[in-house]
Amino acid sequence: MAYNFNLVVDRKNTNSLKYDFAVERGKTADILPLWVADMDFPTVPEVTEALVKASRHGIFGYTEVKEDYFKVLRNWFSSHYHWDIERKWLVKTPGVVFAIAMAIRAFTEKNDTVLIQRPVYYPFSEAIESNERVLINNPLVYENGKYHMDLNDFEEKIIKNNVKLFILCNPHNPVGKVWTKDELIQLGDICVKHNVLVVSDEIHADFIYPGHEHLNFASLKPEFFAGTITCTAPVRPLIWQVYRYPM
Ligand SMILES: Cc1ncc(COP(=O)(O)O)c(C=O)c1O
Repeated sequence: MAYNFNLVVDRKNTNSLKYDFAVERGKTADILPLWVADMDFPTVPEVTEALVKASRHGIFGYTEVKEDYFKVLRNWFSSHYHWDIERKWLVKTPGVVFAIAMAIRAFTEKNDTVLIQRPVYYPFSEAIESNERVLINNPLVYENGKYHMDLNDFEEKIIKNNVKLFILCNPHNPVGKVWTKDELIQLGDICVKHNVLVVSDEIHADFIYPGHEHLNFASLKPEFFAGTITCTAPVRPLIWQVYRYPM
């Protein structure tokens, strides 16, 4: 199937967040909105056709997914990430940001500390601060055109601030970094040592340049498995989280 990537679709006056809310958000009306992961290409015809078919049915009641959906998900994880997941670990939520906010609320108390690595997807800080938790930043370091983690600062800040939860962005948005096994192991060992729960946002796992490999953080070591909530979104708008935490 050939797709037309030259077609320009006018999205103005469709209540589009990135085009119709510029002025409300303090920008000029004609600003070119490059800040949000929101497509300018029309979706593939298969998706439109499926939606039209569902619409023609004419009834928009409550729906659920059957076991087949979970099978597809499990196959995806094992074939792409060599990770054999169990059905009972899976929890569906309305979105990844929602899941992160719920994890913060479920596993930390007000005024507890939550660590992130800026620059990072801005809703992480909103999820922390709007839930009255304290944000601790372990900034990524930009050197020779690349970003890396400062793991000394990471551990120091965890100890000094008694960090309870860390939101890992893997692969990282916006720096585009696919974290290596070494980096993830070192980082994970520090979290295990200081009993820090990891929320690993792996929503971008499927968008990797050739030559790189996405590594699922939780499956790298059994100790990581025990203290990680992995957030994924293989299919939109149905969003699923892999949830693993000792209950
Ligand atoms: C790192 C990251 N997490 C989560 C999301 C959004 O997830 P959701 O729309 O499911 O809340 C994005 C979207 O750009 C993202 O970049």
